[in-house]
Amino acid sequence: MCGIVGYIGVEQAGPFLLDSLEKLEYRGYDSSGVCLNTGSELVVKKAKGKLEVLKQMTDSGKSLNGTVGIGHTRWATHGEPSDVNAHPHLSESGRFAVVHNGIIENYQELKDYLTSKGIVFRSETDTEVIAQLIEYYYKGDMIDTIIRVLGKLDGSYALGVITIESPDEIIAVRKESPLIIGLGNNENYIASDVTAILSKTKKICRLENNEIAILKKDSVRIVNLDREEIHKEAEIVSWDISSAQKGGYEHFMFKEIMEQPKAISETITPRIKNGRVVLDEISLSDDDIKKFNKINVLACGSAYHVGVVAKYIFEKMLRIPVEADLASEFRYRDPIVNDKTLTIVISQSGETADTKEAMKEARRRGSHIISIVNVVGSAIAVESNDVIYTWAGPEIAVATTKAYSTQLSVIYLIALYFGEKLGRIPAAEYKALVNELEQLPRKITQVLECKERVQYLASKYFNSKDIFFIGRNIDYALSLEGSLKLKEISYIHSEAYAAGELKHGTISLIEDGTPVIALATHEELIPKMVSNIEEVNTRGAQVICIACDDHPELKKLGETIFIPKVCDMLLPSLAVIPLQLFAYYIASLKGCDIDKPRNLAKSVTVE
Ligand code: AGP
Repeated sequence: MCGIVGYIGVEQAGPFLLDSLEKLEYRGYDSSGVCLNTGSELVVKKAKGKLEVLKQMTDSGKSLNGTVGIGHTRWATHGEPSDVNAHPHLSESGRFAVVHNGIIENYQELKDYLTSKGIVFRSETDTEVIAQLIEYYYKGDMIDTIIRVLGKLDGSYALGVITIESPDEIIAVRKESPLIIGLGNNENYIASDVTAILSKTKKICRLENNEIAILKKDSVRIVNLDREEIHKEAEIVSWDISSAQKGGYEHFMFKEIMEQPKAISETITPRIKNGRVVLDEISLSDDDIKKFNKINVLACGSAYHVGVVAKYIFEKMLRIPVEADLASEFRYRDPIVNDKTLTIVISQSGETADTKEAMKEARRRGSHIISIVNVVGSAIAVESNDVIYTWAGPEIAVATTKAYSTQLSVIYLIALYFGEKLGRIPAAEYKALVNELEQLPRKITQVLECKERVQYLASKYFNSKDIFFIGRNIDYALSLEGSLKLKEISYIHSEAYAAGELKHGTISLIEDGTPVIALATHEELIPKMVSNIEEVNTRGAQVICIACDDHPELKKLGETIFIPKVCDMLLPSLAVIPLQLFAYYIASLKGCDIDKPRNLAKSVTVE
């Protein structure tokens, strides 16, 4: 959702701010803005709509004057998307400017108070309250003022503040929303997301909750709410700038689909040593592992779909009951969770509000939390007991592909690791599974070769009104993902059904020409799937079947896409590839904004 950037240095800030706001576009936004400190005044430019509008307004930042500035992409929460509600927000006199990610829960109360003191508000946002409070409490010392203001705020925030009272600094502070400091040579930066500053520096510091950073062009000081100095070691980000660029591909989504073999290899290879899965990240002893009588998986969207796959895999291999829960539902159903429940939390961004809160709920109830996260140092990663990072690199397209695949590969690692500890996997089987897992990136590269065939099939069906996905067992879990991928980027209505459920109502939706993607990757379920495919066929459906190898029986029933045979556990990693490509090509043929689909944000930081 919203994005923050800031620059202080010797160069003109405008071009950098506009450029880095572009890097944050993928998070989702509906307006954008910048504020530059000229030394004598704060100049704000902001506009509703695409960043292009702001770029034109400012000649890509070149018409702006000042070496200190902040910028923002806003996703509307309080107040409609509009020029006036866009950030940055100024205090009444225009001496203080603020950009803000997060939500101020008590903003109305604060607004009423300030209004009663005669302060006039311009916008409907919660953020303007912060700018007005800063001005109201300012008595000559910015740090004191910020500490006082923070004491008044309930909610979550990452803030960038500039003022003509101290024109040579940016103040940055955070609580619950991420904010990093980039360290340069005679210039420093703030950003909500490392991709915004990767073109300038890989040297960063992560701000923790309630830490206040005071950036000057040649120094960064960090203090806590008691004004005590905090020393932080800078860290070097491993992500490369090229991973945040399209690198010749038309869309990030396609690039990220193609990057999957590498991402999976980087996720699994360091964790397989001498034929054994080694998860040093897990702090549980063998006895701790044996005491769990239930596993909960908490996540949203595609990450939840990984959880549904995990349920099938863990239950089969570990013989422990598993519940895969939508994080937004888990929190409000008084879940049965205690210290005998292991909770696995899955999130690419590590910032998804519902997932984060569900995790806290599980933890409050005594559960041990293992998170599977892509963004290093994100809130979920930091707040879980153990974190296993997916080394997918930055994922820019809103529709997840490589993060989903690397999350799946961590599920396999956990299944093998726990399976060995619990003695539930015979040694020969364990050895074979690890061996196959090591071959997975190569098999995925092979499956990616089906892209022309998938493109051809997409060209037959891109005008469809509805497309259905059916499958049994893990193939049902994959159907959920295939259907979500399609609807989020192509805007075609789609549903996923457990194939056995069709007869119980949903088959009435099938009419002449309705495309049905049937997943039939599990050998022992093929006879059942054949019956289900015949049922939809006789009602006029056009079936595309995804199965293993050249299955003659399935070939007779419709179009087919074949993936190589692998062990059951790994099938989802191969079968998801044609589903991702199908959604991609359909959206491309429909001319959709593939990387930034309408109404969607990459990280959903509000509940
Ligand atoms: C999938 O393509 C989505 N963009 C979305 O469902 C996503 O998986 C979900 O919002 C969870 O995000 P997270 O992994 O960052 O927590």
